[in-house]
Amino acid sequence: MPNRPIVIAHRGASGYLPEHTLVAKALAVGMGADYIEQDVVATRDGELIVFHDLTLDATTDVRARFPGRARRDGHFYCRDFSLEELRTLGISERREAGAPTLRYPGRFPAEAGRFPIVTLDEEIRFIQGLNRSTGRVVGIYPEIKDPAWHRDEGIDVGERLLTLLERYGYDGPQSPVFVQCFDPAELRRLRHEHGSRLRQVLLLDSRAGALAPQQLQAIATYAEAIGPSLRLLETHGTPPENNTLVRDAHAAGLQVHPYTLRRDELPAGIGEFDELLDLVLRRLGADGVFTDFPDLAVAFVASRFGRQLD
Ligand code: G3P
Ligand code: CA
Repeated sequence: MPNRPIVIAHRGASGYLPEHTLVAKALAVGMGADYIEQDVVATRDGELIVFHDLTLDATTDVRARFPGRARRDGHFYCRDFSLEELRTLGISERREAGAPTLRYPGRFPAEAGRFPIVTLDEEIRFIQGLNRSTGRVVGIYPEIKDPAWHRDEGIDVGERLLTLLERYGYDGPQSPVFVQCFDPAELRRLRHEHGSRLRQVLLLDSRAGALAPQQLQAIATYAEAIGPSLRLLETHGTPPENNTLVRDAHAAGLQVHPYTLRRDELPAGIGEFDELLDLVLRRLGADGVFTDFPDLAVAFVASRFGRQLD
């Protein structure tokens, strides 16, 4: 039987509760996810928070609570607020950019709860606490958001992340952590200048196009995995096996963790969530998936690959 793929809870169990809230993380652990994802951005006072966007607009009530604090582009940036200020905000379900409509209308109702922003330090302690009380080893999967933008803003998020991870015992390739980023220069810097031995993942968005074997071999000099957009696994009507990205990545020694599998946003031509899981994990042979619905992926993996041993 092939290796059991990992289930990465994308922003927590975000199909059921607002993204990057501790309740969504707890639910994901309870559902049996192997890793919990954190997107990481910085506050004005240099704290690292678990938050997807550089701006607060789409998932918080910042506009109502801090009118007049937007930049000239009309957006409210995490970097412009102290942690104390950010703690007064409430997170609710993501809205469409610049519109009051919910991005995923069938999900947790906006009026049914208001949840606080969490620091990365708090979230790591929370997950490690659950590991202690459950006896499991659920990993963390932090993403450095726009490191170049943050450096222009005067803060080195990657360096601070490594310091924090080391403080919590994540110090080598066996540690239950993957550090992810869309910026290859950042991952090269962490590996070659900071000497990080933590496993690293280069994220690839849909514009990456087809990668030649030599490009994948170059990535393998500073990363252990790639995280391709699902769009990069498309075959435009030909058999899925015609897409060789996973095979080529494996040949270069890279694992593959595609993003993001959503029951309520299936790719064209896919009718059921299990069909998508089957395509990505069984037919294409990916080593894990980012998903907003970790319970469904955990059930699929258990039925096709066997249950977790821990
Ligand atoms: O990190 C994997 C996936 O989350 C990348 O996309 O925009 O959801 O962070 P995004
Ligand atoms: Ca992410």
